[in-house]
Amino acid sequence: MAAIIQLKPITDVPENRRASADPRDPAFFQNPYAFYDRLHADNPAFFWDQYGHWCFAGFKDVSALLRDKRFGREILHVATREELGMPAPKPHTAAFDLTEKHSLLNLEPPGHTRLRTLVNRAFVSRHVEQLRPRIIRLANEMIDSFEGEDSVDLIKAFAAPIPAIIIAEMIGLPAESAPSLLNWSNRMVAMYMFGVNEATERDANQASQDFMDFVAEAIAERRKRPTEDLLSHMLTSDRDGDRLSDEEVMSTAILLLNAGHEATVHTTGNGVKSILESGIDPVTLFASDAQTEATVEECLRFDAPLHMFTRYALSDLEYDGLQLRKGDVIGLMLGAANRDPRRFANANTFDPFRSDGANVSFGAGIHFCIGAPLARIELQVAFSTLFRRLPRLRLAEAPSYNDVYHFHGLERLMVRWR
Ligand code: HEM
Repeated sequence: MAAIIQLKPITDVPENRRASADPRDPAFFQNPYAFYDRLHADNPAFFWDQYGHWCFAGFKDVSALLRDKRFGREILHVATREELGMPAPKPHTAAFDLTEKHSLLNLEPPGHTRLRTLVNRAFVSRHVEQLRPRIIRLANEMIDSFEGEDSVDLIKAFAAPIPAIIIAEMIGLPAESAPSLLNWSNRMVAMYMFGVNEATERDANQASQDFMDFVAEAIAERRKRPTEDLLSHMLTSDRDGDRLSDEEVMSTAILLLNAGHEATVHTTGNGVKSILESGIDPVTLFASDAQTEATVEECLRFDAPLHMFTRYALSDLEYDGLQLRKGDVIGLMLGAANRDPRRFANANTFDPFRSDGANVSFGAGIHFCIGAPLARIELQVAFSTLFRRLPRLRLAEAPSYNDVYHFHGLERLMVRWR
């Protein structure tokens, strides 16, 4: 997931294909949809001035490009740093880089296939479905803990702890480690901020080091005493004599722990906000299992938690009339694709009763989110439990989003329910 940047400047971009929006401007990251509306109207495949690379906002392009094997997350398997003009790695981000080195998200086949096959089994629907009762219990416990108060920040008190505890327990770490995991993860995510500075890089690196030390200790323990958890499974799995190294297990555990909660926390917050702002009676949204599922899908579509993923062109190529060079970066705008009026009727309306709801919030192609079945259960349980227990839930103040454009989530979500 390392922030991929365009290395060789792209010149000769026609004026009518350019678009400009500062990702750090609060007016933009509070509501990127105004920018997306303009793109959809006349420039959905455009050159984003601030990022210096081509981006795609249309649903059809985003879906196709996520699956297009001419693009990848990795580039150094087909080109050298010198050829690409890629600077040497920064010594002060060495620990962060190490956590990313074997990350599924950054690998291409065959390395990707090998690692993904090993962890996939733990995340298939019928396996994670068994976690539903535990998730229901947790959601109720969280509500019990704040129900007596007048108001609460729902992100801290409800949205964050549930997925963090679930993924920690799946990996085999105690629920009590969740606050540390959240802290390390939040500091690491800051690396994806547009125009990240050195202080942030150093802080993310320290968080990565602390995270690795913590996981290394757990690995050493599991090596001595394997248990039923995913960490033990990764350490002992053997496919034709092929085993994962400690570094691979470490990277995968950290990716799962981070990816396993960040987006789910944000979708919970964004979804509650969407529901409350829509004025729709929540009773109708969770009246049946099928409607609960549809409501979750609409929350994912309407206000996606992850707005842009990038890919490298792995060779000189042409896409829809656009000439790209090997190493050029493209931005795939998931949050924008979900609001494409060519794909969705009344794309800017939150409508959990729509029948055209399929979205790209979990990506597509070989990197399609491995945690999608788990995230869907967590969201179904979180929303339905919350609105059943607190039917008068309402916003206590206007919520605002974090200054990390790619991770579109709320800083806090103050609510009341009496
Ligand atoms: C609402 C919640 C979630 C959303 C919206 C989401 C979204 C995504 C997206 C868009 C990708 C693909 C990125 C790309 O194509 O470059 C992805 C990959 C991934 N996600 Fe999720 N995710 C969510 C929850 C989870 C959970 C709960 C887990 C783990 C337990 C998880 C683990 C992963 C992993 C490991 C990958 C990398 C897969 C690969 O590269 O093969 N995610 N996710």
